[in-house]
Amino acid sequence: MAGQFPSGFIWGTATAAHQVEGGNVGCDFWPLEMADNSIFAEPSGDACDHYHLYERDIALLKQLGFGAYRFSIEWARIQPEEKFFSQGALDHYRRVLGSCLEHGIVPIVTFHHFTSPLWFTRDGGWAEASSVDRFARYCERSARALGDLIAYICTINEANLPMMITRYSELARGKPFAMSRRVGEVAKSLGADPARFAPFLFSDANKTSPNFIAAHRKAVDAIKGTGAKAPVGITLATQDLHAESGGEALTAKLDRDINGQFLEAMRGDDFVGVQTYSRTRIGAHGPLPVPPDAEVTQMGYEFYPEGLEATIRNAAKVSGCPIIVTENGIGTEDDTRRIAYTERALQGVLRCLADGIDVRGYIHWSMLDNYEWTQGYRPKFGLIAVDRATQTRTPKPSAHWLGTVAKRNALTAGA
Ligand code: BGC
Repeated sequence: MAGQFPSGFIWGTATAAHQVEGGNVGCDFWPLEMADNSIFAEPSGDACDHYHLYERDIALLKQLGFGAYRFSIEWARIQPEEKFFSQGALDHYRRVLGSCLEHGIVPIVTFHHFTSPLWFTRDGGWAEASSVDRFARYCERSARALGDLIAYICTINEANLPMMITRYSELARGKPFAMSRRVGEVAKSLGADPARFAPFLFSDANKTSPNFIAAHRKAVDAIKGTGAKAPVGITLATQDLHAESGGEALTAKLDRDINGQFLEAMRGDDFVGVQTYSRTRIGAHGPLPVPPDAEVTQMGYEFYPEGLEATIRNAAKVSGCPIIVTENGIGTEDDTRRIAYTERALQGVLRCLADGIDVRGYIHWSMLDNYEWTQGYRPKFGLIAVDRATQTRTPKPSAHWLGTVAKRNALTAGA
């Protein structure tokens, strides 16, 4: 299916600070990565050195045909201690934003993308009610310093992901969620109480989810209170859940816990960011393995680009908000599969638009091959390959293909 996108449709790529900047030593993931017997396959280290190479990367995006760049600012750099905000770090991000604007790239900025400052996590992190005020204070300071240059603000990235991880872990264990023992050991080695150590991704979402939602609500008000003009929203790991025979009741419950409660809490927001990679089939007792005949991505997910269309429709219906696809992509070494995946995902976006759903943009994950969290550097999500020994960037055919789609604002047969 070929088709034209509406004028003003946003075309971009995304990254997150910790996955590309390098040297994020003050955040809570750093000691978890460096620990002996770490749950991370390897440490993030220097990553893609995007902290220094941002200018080149942004220029390359423009050259390829993209109009927007979604990236995150790093709380641990901006507020390395509770009582200290770093003007130097804020100035750095002003330079990054300035570079976007100079190159005619619309900056979309996420304020929290999984990592938090170590001082915050050590002191109860997201499991404590104090997280709400602490996060809003950081957002307020950042919006005051940077807000005049930002086009769109995402408060928290995938605020529902810990809930998905928690529910799937409860189902697999058949008992209440327990934080990873290895994370607890790192907490102890840092002199922290493991019972009060709650990094975003590894936390018990029964405790942290209400705080994510309250922190988002308070951050929206704090950001708007600074006079920042940017639309503000959250991004969600929107799950396309398919009930298999016998799994209907469990699917409905999981959909409510993982998607519904978050989407409902965002009603009235300027937008919701939809982030979808695949689908999950649910049986009577929990998620089912990928069907034996299905193509599987490097993440072990089913190759299923149609998940995007389903989650856009659901997010628009339940939240009532305009939608921006803030992430969609595939971990693969075979770039031809990235193009095939993205083309099918975009056809789904066109069908949503044809049905009158207000979809404002498509941001591909990711600009660069980068640090895929616990899986290290093995999965390749980038439109642009990175040789981390030399920090050389090489755009893949998919980067040229999607850049051309962006320039034409259309999917054309054989584009
Ligand atoms: C996250 C990214 C991650 C991507 C691919 C999303 O869950 O926001 O940080 O790299 O998916 O797994």
